[in-house]
Amino acid sequence: MSEPFAAVEVISAKRDKQELSDAHIDWIIDAYTRGVVADEQMSALLMAILLNGMNSREISRWTDAMINSGERMSWSILTRPTVDKHSTGGVGDKITLPLAPLVAACGGAVPQLSGRGLGHTGGTLDKLESIPGWRASLSNDEMLKVLQDVGAVICAAGAGLAPADKKLYALRDVTATVQAIPLIASSIMSKKIAEGTSALVLDVKTGSGAFMSDPDDARELARTMVELGKRAGVTTRALVTAMDVPLGLTAGNALEVRESVEVLAGGGPADIVELTLILAREMLDAAKIKPLMDPADALKNGAAMDHWRRMISAQGGDPDGKLPVAKERQEFLAPTSGVVTRMDAMSVGLGAWRLGAGRAVQGEKLQLGAGIEIHAKPGEHIQAGTPLYTLHTDESARFERALDVLQTSFTIGSESDPIHRLPLILDRIEG
Ligand code: URA
Repeated sequence: MSEPFAAVEVISAKRDKQELSDAHIDWIIDAYTRGVVADEQMSALLMAILLNGMNSREISRWTDAMINSGERMSWSILTRPTVDKHSTGGVGDKITLPLAPLVAACGGAVPQLSGRGLGHTGGTLDKLESIPGWRASLSNDEMLKVLQDVGAVICAAGAGLAPADKKLYALRDVTATVQAIPLIASSIMSKKIAEGTSALVLDVKTGSGAFMSDPDDARELARTMVELGKRAGVTTRALVTAMDVPLGLTAGNALEVRESVEVLAGGGPADIVELTLILAREMLDAAKIKPLMDPADALKNGAAMDHWRRMISAQGGDPDGKLPVAKERQEFLAPTSGVVTRMDAMSVGLGAWRLGAGRAVQGEKLQLGAGIEIHAKPGEHIQAGTPLYTLHTDESARFERALDVLQTSFTIGSESDPIHRLPLILDRIEG
């Protein structure tokens, strides 16, 4: 088949700061997915986009072209409105685990396609795989059945969903082009729109442990994604939330599942409970659902826990199964007494990664019990010689490299020192 364009025409247009036409965009995404445009050509285009940007028409067309590269799911058979949440990811961000069953308990249908962790941030599927027997891969029919029976399903996106994004994301990862707002927004939104949800709440993280460390960049990413959702007919809202400090008191797969179960049992750390409830209310409102009960009550009265247990069982998991525990532990003791005034999310994330909780390359096997428990967060008192962190790993040789990064991950000061911590919610953006 003869091609309507040559890749160099499209690359040079963006290199020269011109707008890409709809025809250029449709063709390059399709031709790259078919293997006609080579990786080196797409790499050059991605770098030109990173440097010169895209306007809202180009971003919208690029997103549509990625959606059209694969299938579009439909949940029209369901009697409940569908609503999903997507987080741009961070350290200790296990919110999806309690949130999906909680929203199901309140009357929503949550079709959550999730990913795996790469680098210092964890992935929801990796966390859930620490539950014995739990399966991430479901067919579309199986996914529908769990949604119908339970109201929430968390699983891997099939190969047919936005295949252009799968290729592009892998290429961006190795060409230093992940960090472009048009590319992040189109990547996330193409998958969420193709997933077929009718409402979507985005949790855009900002701070040292997030993709977008600058809050203004996070706001721009949030606005771009909300606009894409609106154009596609998906009611989309975004919250810009803090990721300067780890969320909750654990980072690492099985450790985070344990903490999520505590939240579902009506306990758990205050920041996790607060963010889970804020997102649940936002999801129910965005989907125009009259809640069957208040989300805070659903955490206290066992309804969310009941939905969690059913969701895990429906995917082959044993909700009472023993979670993996790392073979080795080491405590990191506070060097002085005082108030924790700073705790850097990125350093804690790197520490957990070096202990074996995260992967360095796609497909690497994880140590599911590895990670870090945090014993005092910014604003809390600590005594010299008592544990600030507990480190978990299967290989004691990993402690040293984790300790290197953790030594400078916190500051302990006096009562009168300012606490360095972003507010949990920085902004809310609605289409
Ligand atoms: N998550 C995605 O799915 N895509 C990106 O580009 C960044 C985060």
